[in-house]
Amino acid sequence: MATRRILVTSALPYANGPLHLGHMVEQIQTDIWVRFQKLRGHECHYVCASDAHGTPIMLKAEQEGISPEALIERVQAAHRADSGGFLVGFDNFHTTHSPENRHYTELFYERLLAAGYIARRPIQQAYDPVKNLFLPDRYIKGGCPRCSAADQYGDSCEACGATYGPTDLKNPVSVLSGATPVTRESEHFFFRLGAFEQMLREWTAGASVQPEIANKLNEWFEQGLQDWDISRDAPYFGFEIPREPGKYFYVWLEAPIGYMASAQDYCNRTGLSFDDFWKVDSSAELHHFIGKDIAYFHTLFWPAMLHGAGYRRPTAVHCHGFLTVNGQKMSKSRGTFVMARTYLEHLDPEYFRYYIAGKLGPAVEDIDLNLEDFVLRVNADLVGKVVNIASRCAGFIGKRFEGRLGGADAALVAELSAAADAVAAHYEQREYAKAMRVVMGLADRANQYIDQEKPWQLAKDPAQESRVQAVCSTGIELFRILMTYLKPVLPAMAIRAEAFLQTTLTWGGLSAPLGAHTVANFTPLMNRVDMDKVNAMIEASKSNTVPAAVAAPAAVPASPALPIAPEISIDDFAKIDLRVARVAAAAHVEGADKLIQLTLDLGDGERNVFAGIKSAYAPEALVGRLVVVVANLAPRKMRFGVSQGMVLAAGPGGKEIFLLEPDSGAQPGMQVK
Ligand code: MSP
Ligand code: ZN
Repeated sequence: MATRRILVTSALPYANGPLHLGHMVEQIQTDIWVRFQKLRGHECHYVCASDAHGTPIMLKAEQEGISPEALIERVQAAHRADSGGFLVGFDNFHTTHSPENRHYTELFYERLLAAGYIARRPIQQAYDPVKNLFLPDRYIKGGCPRCSAADQYGDSCEACGATYGPTDLKNPVSVLSGATPVTRESEHFFFRLGAFEQMLREWTAGASVQPEIANKLNEWFEQGLQDWDISRDAPYFGFEIPREPGKYFYVWLEAPIGYMASAQDYCNRTGLSFDDFWKVDSSAELHHFIGKDIAYFHTLFWPAMLHGAGYRRPTAVHCHGFLTVNGQKMSKSRGTFVMARTYLEHLDPEYFRYYIAGKLGPAVEDIDLNLEDFVLRVNADLVGKVVNIASRCAGFIGKRFEGRLGGADAALVAELSAAADAVAAHYEQREYAKAMRVVMGLADRANQYIDQEKPWQLAKDPAQESRVQAVCSTGIELFRILMTYLKPVLPAMAIRAEAFLQTTLTWGGLSAPLGAHTVANFTPLMNRVDMDKVNAMIEASKSNTVPAAVAAPAAVPASPALPIAPEISIDDFAKIDLRVARVAAAAHVEGADKLIQLTLDLGDGERNVFAGIKSAYAPEALVGRLVVVVANLAPRKMRFGVSQGMVLAAGPGGKEIFLLEPDSGAQPGMQVK
C-alpha cells in the first residue's frame, strides 16, 4: 500500500456565534475520515480556520461595543475549545483574518485580473441613509411583492415562498436603522465564472463530486454561469482591494482561500512544503468536507478560482446533509438547537460521535438525531456489546492469571480480523454507517462465543483452568480488533482500551494477535447514557440566552474526565450516610498546608473532621457554612488527630473547591439522597 499524502478541510465556521451540533456533525465526519487515514499509515493533515470577515461580524462587534478583532479572537478560542471537546483533531486551526490569507487573496486577485477574469461595472443597490452602508439582502425587510405578507426578508418570502430582489419589496425598511433604504449606484468587481465552464464540466465528470451534486451542477451549467460579484463597499470588515480605496473583497472570495492560509501557517510551523499540496501537478490529494448549503461556492467558484490563479483543483468535495433533531429542524423553543458547549456540559462526546457515525453515509441526506434512539443505540452497542466483551473476560484474566493471556482461539480471531479490508473500504467511501454495522455484527459474534463457552461456569471447575484462560483471552483478542476498527470514531475510548490492553491499536496490528501478553487491570471504558442527562441538556438549551461560545471562554480547556472508579451496587451506595452539617468552628492545623480542622454540627452533637480545602477557603470564611459529610465513615487516625467523617466537595482543586451553596435551605442533620 503506497503512502498517500492528503490535505483535508472542514468548512470554516463563522466567527460570530457558537458552534452547535450541526457544525459538529461536519467536523466529526471529517475527523473520522482523517483519523482513519492516519490509522492506516497515510500522511494526512487536517486544517481549518475561523471565517472572520464580513458584514454580520462587523455589526455584531458594533452591537457589543467591541472591536471586530476582539470578537473574532474570543469566538475563535471558543470554537477551538468546542471542537477539541468533541475530540476533533485539527492539525491547524487558523483564521482568515491573517497575513497569510491577505497574501493569498491579493495573489489570487492579481493573477485573475492579469488573466482577464475580473470585470467591473456599476450596480444599483439598497443603501441605508442613516447607517451609511449598503445593505445585504438579509438586512432589508418589507412586504412580499407577491402575497403582500408583511415583514419579509429582501430575498424570499417565508409566507408564499416567492424569491425576488430587495428592490421589489413593498415599503422596505432597513433592519439596522428602520430607515427606508434608498437606491444607490456603486462600482463592483466581478469574477467571470462563465470563462471556466468547460473546465468545470470536465472536473465535475472526473468523479470529484457526489452524483447528486453533479446533477445540480449540470442544472447550473444549463442555466448558464453568471458573473459573481466579489467586492463590497466600505464600511466592511475584511481586506481592501489593492489600489481600490473603499472597495473590499467579499468574504466568500477569501473564505476558501482561508484553507490555503491555514495550510501555509501549518507549513510554516512544521516545515512541510506548501507547493507539494497546492501546485498544479501536485500528486497530493485535497479533500473538502462541507454542508449542502455551500456546495455552489465549493464546486463552482472555488475550483474556478484555483484554476484561474494557477493552482491545483480539489480531489473531491464531500457534501453532507443537515442535522435534524427528532425529525425536525433544530429549534430553540423545543430545546433542540443544542450548542456544542451545552452538549459537552451534559454528555460524553463519544456518544454523539458514535451515533452520528452510525447514521452517516456518502449521500447528501439530512441526518436525524432521535434522542430516544440515541440513548438506546449507544447503550446497546457500545456499552452492551463492545465494552461488555472486555468486562466479561478481563476479571478472570486479571484475578486468576495475573493478566496473562494465552491459548486464544486463532480461527475466531482470524475471522474478525478478516473484515479489515471491508471496514476500511467503508470508511474510505464515507460509508460510516455500513462500517458500524459490520463492526457491531462482529461484536455480536464475539458475545455469542462467550455466551456459548460460559467462562463463569468453566471457572467453577479446577480442571478447566486453562480453558478459562483460553476463552477469556479469545474475548480480549476480539475486543482488541473491534476497538481498532472503532478507533477513528472513539479516539478517547481507544486510548483507555490501549491502557488496558497494554498495546497501541494500529491497522497493521489487526492481523497480529497479542498472543502470550500481559494486560493491565480493567477499568470501565464507558458509562451508560442516561436519559435524564439528555433531558437536562434539552432543558438547558431552551434557556440558553447567552450562547456559551460567545461568552468569554474558560482560560483553561476542560481537562479530560477522570476515569470512573469500579462500579458499586445500589446496596454499596445505600451504606453511605450523607448528612448536612454546619461548620461550628474552623481552625488552621499546625504544620499542615492543605488541612483545616472543622468542628461540625450534625444536629446530634459535634464531630471533629479534617478537610483538605485550605487552598480554597480561609477557616474564618467557613464558620456557619453548610457542608455535606459522610457521617458513618469509620474514624481515622491522622497525623494531626482523629477525623470523624469526611466533607464532600467538587472541583479541580486549588481555588476551585466547591461546597454546598450557603443559602440552600438545608438543616444540620438532614439526610442527603
Ligand atoms: N463560513 C462559511 C463556510 C466557509 S468555507 C470556505 C459557513 N459557515 S457556517 O458556520 O455557517 O457553517 C459551517 C459548516 O457547518 C458548513 O459546512 C455548514 O453547512 C455546516 N452546518 C451548519 N449547520 C448545519 C447543520 N444543521 N447540520 C449540518 N451541517 C451544518 O457556511
Ligand atoms: Zn409572499
